[in-house]
Amino acid sequence: MAEVLAVILAAGKSKRMKSETPKVLHEVCDRPMIEHVLDAAREAGCQKIVVVVGHKADEVQAALSHHDDVSFALQAEQLGTGHAVMCCRDTLASHTGPVLVLTGDTPLLQGESLKGLISELEGNSAGCVVGTATTENNFGLGRIVRSDDGVFLRIVEEKDASDEERAITEINTGCFAFDGESLLEALDDITSDNAQGEYYLTDCAEIMRTKGKTVLAACRMDIVEAMGVNTQEQLAEVEQVMKTRSAT
Ligand code: UD1
Ligand code: CA
Repeated sequence: MAEVLAVILAAGKSKRMKSETPKVLHEVCDRPMIEHVLDAAREAGCQKIVVVVGHKADEVQAALSHHDDVSFALQAEQLGTGHAVMCCRDTLASHTGPVLVLTGDTPLLQGESLKGLISELEGNSAGCVVGTATTENNFGLGRIVRSDDGVFLRIVEEKDASDEERAITEINTGCFAFDGESLLEALDDITSDNAQGEYYLTDCAEIMRTKGKTVLAACRMDIVEAMGVNTQEQLAEVEQVMKTRSAT
């Protein structure tokens, strides 16, 4: 079986946490939240993990330096999620096989769900599988745009979406399984020509599709898993869910 690489995005600044501690090092059930994401990646079968660091890079790197399977890529300036993945270009270029892209602030991710994304990728020889979930609370999230017959078309961000697109309740969880080679190719084609002036990782999905690659949006994740921590309130919520989980 091909080796699976995980890329975990953790370079962004988190003003809304109102804390000096880098966001991904805030603890959930007595462990830095990113440790839970590393666990999920390993459970999904990832043998190598690259963490993209930027804001307070030294602190994040020091906190994770004891893991033999973790290496780091520096994103000096936060120009978007696509740019963050580009910062791992060298690692991606030397890797053949699936690449799982995750974010460091979603500690409720489950290995089983991520494994599902990888098997869907491999089973369909796809370029990309987008992990999606459905929620009425879709504000701020990327929406999954499908054709009338349900075929995946693209992901549109809140700030770029039309009113009609904003009403879509299927959202991008931020978890993707990619074919490594196709991902590198698609990254070459993304631009920052959008409402936020950022390089969006999400654009890779549409780019691959227009190049004739199979791109699937798999609604196989629970919205709870995708719950990102941006505020102290969300940190408390996530901790509550994890406690309930370990009690059952
Ligand atoms: C992103 C997705 C959106 C999805 C949502 C799920 C894009 C363009 N949008 O939006 O479709 O629904 O996540 O939560 O990808 N980061 C970096 N470097 C950067 C920018 C971000 O490392 O330059 C990291 C952040 O630290 C964070 C993660 O990437 O962990 C997501 O970034 P964020 O800016 O929160 O993306 P969203 O706008 O929420
Ligand atoms: Ca976010």
